[in-house]
Order: sequence, then C-alpha cells, then structure tokens
Amino acid sequence: MDLLVYGIGQLAIPTGTAARRGPAQGEISLLRNAYVLVRDGRIVEVGRGRGPRSAGPTLDAESRLVTPGLVDPHTHAVFAGNRVQEFLARARGEKYTGGGILTTVRATRAASEEELVQLARPRLLRMLAQGVTAVEVKSGYGLTPEDELKMLRAIQRLAQELPVTLVPTFMGAHAFPPEVPRAQYVQVLIGEMLPRVAEEGLARFCDVFCDRGFYTVEEARRILTTARGLGLGLKIHADELAPVGGAELAGELSAASAEHLLHASEEGIKALARAGTVAVLLPGTAFLLDEPYPPARELLEAGVPVALGTDFNPGSCPLASLPFVMSLAVLKLRLSPEEVLTAVTLNAAAALGLAHELGSVEVGKRADLVVWDAGTFAEIPYWMGQNLAWAVIRDGRIVAGPACPSP
Ligand code: NIG
Ligand code: FE
Repeated sequence: MDLLVYGIGQLAIPTGTAARRGPAQGEISLLRNAYVLVRDGRIVEVGRGRGPRSAGPTLDAESRLVTPGLVDPHTHAVFAGNRVQEFLARARGEKYTGGGILTTVRATRAASEEELVQLARPRLLRMLAQGVTAVEVKSGYGLTPEDELKMLRAIQRLAQELPVTLVPTFMGAHAFPPEVPRAQYVQVLIGEMLPRVAEEGLARFCDVFCDRGFYTVEEARRILTTARGLGLGLKIHADELAPVGGAELAGELSAASAEHLLHASEEGIKALARAGTVAVLLPGTAFLLDEPYPPARELLEAGVPVALGTDFNPGSCPLASLPFVMSLAVLKLRLSPEEVLTAVTLNAAAALGLAHELGSVEVGKRADLVVWDAGTFAEIPYWMGQNLAWAVIRDGRIVAGPACPSP
C-alpha cells in the first residue's frame, strides 16, 4: 500500500534495528512537523514539512502525535472459556498458583480450530483498535499433540486473515496434562510435538513455564535445546512465582527473551545483561494478582533491554490493553515515558526477532504506525484506560481507529 501521512505534530520513535538498553532505552528521536511516505507497505521517506506531492492516498494527521505501531510481545490470546470464578475468588483473597490453567485446557480441548478462530478474532481486533499492530500469541492450552497443533493452526489462520502481524509461539510446556505421567509428557514434547511444529512451520518460538510447580530448569533446558536444534527461537516464562533460576537459564541459552521475572535473582539479571536477552515485563499480571511488580529499574540499570507486554490470558491476566500496561509501567515500574515507548515498540519487536522490520518509523521498515489523539507520547500512559488511537496503520494501510474509512 502507498500512503503519505503529513501534518504530523510530533513523530516520536526509538531509532535502530536492535533492542535499546541502558540509558539508550530512554532516548527517543522527536521530529516536529513531519511527514512519512510509504510505498508498497514500506517506509521510503521521513522528513519535515508537507512532504512530496503525492498522487496516492494521503492522511492529514492534523498536528497529532505519531509513534510506531505498538508490539505486544507476550499473549495467550487463543483460548476457549473464561475463568470469571477464579477472578472473583482472587478478589476474595485466594492466591494464584497457576492451577486454573487446566480449566482453560479443558475448554480449549473441547473447542474446534474454527471456534478458537472465532473467539480470538474480536480480541485481536480490540488490541488493534488500541494501536497494537503486532502480537505474539502462545499455544499451551492444549497439552496434547493434536490440541497444541490446533491452537497453532488457529493462530496461523488469524494471521492470514487479520491486518495484524501475529508471531506464533509453541508453549506445549505451559503445564502438565493430568492424564500423562510427567516424564512421559516431556518426552512427547521433545520427541513428537516439537518436531511436528517445526516441520509444519507453525511456530517461530518455543516457550517453557520454568517456575515453582511447573517445569524445572533441567526440563526447560532439555526442551529448549531441542527447540533450538529445530530452528525455533527461545523464550522462557521465568521466575514468575519463585526464583527458580529461569533468568539464569535464559542467559545461558541466549534466549530471545525472558518473561515475567517478578522474582528474578541478581545473578539472573546479570546473566540476561551478558546475553543481551530482552526482559519482557508484564505489570498487568502483578496488578491483577496483587503481587509485587517486576524489578524494572534494576534490569534497566544492569543493562538489560526491557520490553512490556500484556500477558493477556483468561487466568492471571484478563487485561488486553497495552496502553493500560504503559500506564502501569510509568506509575508502578517507575519507567520514564521514553523508556516505556521503547519498551512497547523497538524492544518488543526485538523480543520477537523483528527489530529489523518493525518497532520504529524509519526508511526501509514496514509502515506500521499509529496517529494518536494526543500531542505528546506521555499522554498515552497519562490518559489511563482511554483509547487515543486515531488512525492505526499497518503495512501502509489504515486498518483501525476513527480515521479509518469504513469498509
Ligand atoms: O503467563 N504463567 C503462566 N501462564 C500464564 C497464565 C496462564 C493462565 O493462568 O491461564 C501467565 O501468567
Ligand atoms: Fe504468560
């Protein structure tokens, strides 16, 4: 798609094609009175003023703010059923243990691929309407070869159909299926599921829930090294419930990302910094579980690139709004608005191996950008719980927001 976006009051971007860390995470390039020219879905010019005369479609931003399309690097957006009862029980003071995952596994096993697509479509469209143009989605509510592949095929179909970039992650190691002995399931993961997922090209990453009551560091290492041998990138749900050494393992394996990290140890943080692994922080989960927030400042100061995601799932985090997560990051993680913007664009793209394509508005990148009903980017976290996305542009096409032409 071709498009000229002009009249941009402020273009705010973290520049580059790799994750930004340390002080560089807080450095944002600001261009006032700017335009962006798109040809065939790619950015071909960024400059000041009205831009070149263009015969193609144009969009007047009327002095609004423009940022890169937001990237949500951690969701479990494909599932069936809900866990309202668990939400209410927590409100009465019950603690989250992860045990409810099996409730969603039962509902998801009972759903067809088509039903999973129908259920996930409006969720992803609501995320898009809030400026999120790329979303990682994990499997992990099937826990049998057929049900895990069904989830990944649903993600694949949604990716073909929706104007959102979806990055599929195989997370068969999300819990243990009750009907199979533990060691046998790990063998099925390694010997059957991973090879099939890789062969059918159904996932870009493999993720393991490495935590108290879930996969041990040794099990996670076996699963992830197998995944790496099959060409998948690596992610770890690390130290969400207890400091079990998940962050250390992510560093050891040079994983693309380590996620949650509420209880990451000092050693673990050092290991992430050494490896350049992106820390994907999910403050919505801490908020909803009433748990302490992840050590964002320590991670930043240790030189770990920090990204932010929603963790959208039916159990620990029924929150799907990345802008709301940005508010939590400013208020609770004490990140600056600049650090937050980098965390939900370039660094989130880096956690998905897509920083060369997405995460900033620069020549050569894909034209994913958002025009916001705001003058400065600090207003996105400031106007809490409101949707300021005015025009959401994906690959050079306006796909959501009040400025989107109705179909
Ligand atoms: O990221 N931590 C593990 N998995 C999800 C929760 C999934 C669920 O409760 O259904 C999470 O928080
Ligand atoms: Fe998660």
